[in-house]
Amino acid sequence: MDIALLSVSLTVHSTRRIAEEAQHAGHYVELIDHTKCSVKLGEGPPKIFLGEEDVTHEFDAIIPRIGAKVTRHGAAIVKQFEMNNVFSTARSLGITRARNKVRTMQIMSRKGVPVPPTLFSINPDNIEAQIELLGGPPVIIKLQEGTHGYGVILAESKKSAKSIIDTFYKMDTNIFLQQFISEANGEDIRLIVVGNRVVASMKRKSKLDDFRSNVHQGAETEAITPTEKEKNMAVSATKYLGLGVAGVDLIRSKKGPLLIEVNASPGLRGIEAATNVNVAKEIINYVERNARRKKR
Ligand SMILES: Nc1ncnc2c1ncn2[C@@H]1O[C@H](COP(=O)(O)OP(=O)(O)O)[C@@H](O)[C@H]1O
Ligand SMILES: [Mg+2]
Repeated sequence: MDIALLSVSLTVHSTRRIAEEAQHAGHYVELIDHTKCSVKLGEGPPKIFLGEEDVTHEFDAIIPRIGAKVTRHGAAIVKQFEMNNVFSTARSLGITRARNKVRTMQIMSRKGVPVPPTLFSINPDNIEAQIELLGGPPVIIKLQEGTHGYGVILAESKKSAKSIIDTFYKMDTNIFLQQFISEANGEDIRLIVVGNRVVASMKRKSKLDDFRSNVHQGAETEAITPTEKEKNMAVSATKYLGLGVAGVDLIRSKKGPLLIEVNASPGLRGIEAATNVNVAKEIINYVERNARRKKR
């Protein structure tokens, strides 16, 4: 098959791993930097260009690896390939939904996937009441579109929560509030879903003195076997968002697992190292099972 990897560079470890496995399996694979893509509409069928090259009909499948910075344009490029009937491991809509944590929480809550008590507002006039709705401090204040643990703040007292929230509301920064799940104990679990199956799972434990368990914040990783419930949550969340591949993050609370976020382009380095699972190969297998060869 001819596969396009939508990513900014092959120097990105995960992108390179997927390219390697695609080549091993005998496919033609090309890096399509979505930040260098243009779409031309009107006067005939839509066309997708990489630089000046027309790539509209070059691929049987695309694997989007859209980073946090150019999500909107990346999703629009994915959408155009979708409209041209090219198979994608992530629907454009799924990428956009997963990018915003409030949007993700809304969809999970409607579909009955448990999430931590979460509140969003932009009203600076009743912040105390908002904090009370979450059971009082400590509360987590999160940027709606943060990643890697940046933009996740723990406010331990009502005073500090109020002043931080007030500042963000006044600055028109998109945030939301969440109950602090203290028994998560600085740990979360990351489940990699490919198709309708969890293919790899790990626990991430924060460094001493941090409640955030992001690998980018120096967390340690360890392979785990998730429960059936956790696996079902991860697979359903991926499906509900419209993704074929996802990294689903759960925290373990006393009331059971809670979903905190879904990543449409999960990193492969940490999970492959911790679990010895060839996740990149799983993704290529998934493409093989689902993409149709284009008519030549
Ligand atoms: N409600 C919460 N209670 C306790 N810990 C949390 C909560 N939300 C997030 N965390 C911790 O902070 C980390 C980062 O939060 P997350 O929502 O995944 O943001 P990011 O997109 O930056 O990774 C999580 O992996 C988890 O360890
Ligand atoms: Mg996270």
